[in-house]
Amino acid sequence: MIWGHGGNIHAAAAELGCRPSEIVDMSSNVNPLGPPPGLLAHLKTQIHTVCALPEVDAGGMTAAFARRYGLCTQNVLAANGTTHFIYSLPRALGTRRALIMGPTYADYATACERARVPFAFWYAGAANAFFPDLEEALAQNRDADTIFFCNPNNPTGALLPPAAIAGFCRRHPQVRVVLDESYLPFAAPAKARTLIDARINNLIVLNSLSKIFRIPGLRIGFLSASGDVIKALDRFAVPWNVNALAQVAVKYLMSHTPETEAFIARSREHIEAERTCLQKRLGAVCGLSIFPSETSFVLLKLPDRHRAPDVQRQLLKQRILIRDCSNFAGLSVQYIRISLKTRQANRRLTEALMDLMASTPLSTTRPAAGCRRI
Ligand SMILES: Cc1ncc(COP(=O)(O)O)c(C=O)c1O
Repeated sequence: MIWGHGGNIHAAAAELGCRPSEIVDMSSNVNPLGPPPGLLAHLKTQIHTVCALPEVDAGGMTAAFARRYGLCTQNVLAANGTTHFIYSLPRALGTRRALIMGPTYADYATACERARVPFAFWYAGAANAFFPDLEEALAQNRDADTIFFCNPNNPTGALLPPAAIAGFCRRHPQVRVVLDESYLPFAAPAKARTLIDARINNLIVLNSLSKIFRIPGLRIGFLSASGDVIKALDRFAVPWNVNALAQVAVKYLMSHTPETEAFIARSREHIEAERTCLQKRLGAVCGLSIFPSETSFVLLKLPDRHRAPDVQRQLLKQRILIRDCSNFAGLSVQYIRISLKTRQANRRLTEALMDLMASTPLSTTRPAAGCRRI
């Protein structure tokens, strides 16, 4: 049973009797500007590669990725999405007790459950705009030997400065930190330098190509870690784990560095402009709380009388799919997440949500403390 994920566009389309492409999918966190120009055209010319086995260990694309970040290939692994690593790590590391910085992506907990690894959540609260406190979390969970931490976090958008994470890792060498940077490329570089090349012994960094390049169907993820972690993970590697077209895509992206970097920069600018715009408009809606985000989605708390599943249903009638966050441990039935898309789509969502909030009597409940009202 696969659970804990967001809006299923296929189920939504079946319910509405339309094609998935007729729904504005604001539940999925992929880059609205992607895939990068030229990538799909290149893949089309390489479609014949699916007629032969791909490189068994994806060594070529691993080397291309390592070169891009100045890493030794011995410190990098590739897989069919970071999901592969999330599910292998608790077993590979021999984790005795995990600590998960919540509210967050459900798969860290699911992976621990499946590996029969006991885990605890430490929840950042709305009062602190969901800003995580690693020191406090560890102080309350001294027996944890592995921490799962998503930065910027899904679904809150909160970002901890990389220097703070590096400092934490160095102060606590006995704890392994699994840092998921899937949404980092959307954040401003000044605040969000990657730690993929930090070379800190107890730090394991996940890098997904799914979101920023909008290629989740290709299934590509990387991990950087110290040699002993790589060795331990190798026992969970499976042959031909990364498909042929995915390997072609990585080589293309890594060999077109200026174009790839320009695409990422353009994507960041778009996301930042759209996020500011959405925060401004929705921040004016009485009782609706918007939490600060540094990435491509925004977490909202609905006024008391509104419920996320109802709001999701109402918006779906207008063919807009948002993420009902009520199944995130540590959130409630009042939270929704909106992934930023094109200007037109974001405007449509904003208008629809404003209408919806106006059409139902609002309670007198104030927004959660610590939320930014713009
Ligand atoms: C925080 C986070 N990490 C990892 C993943 C999985 O991504 P991938 O496509 O690399 O397996 C997701 C997918 O939604 C995610 O939200």
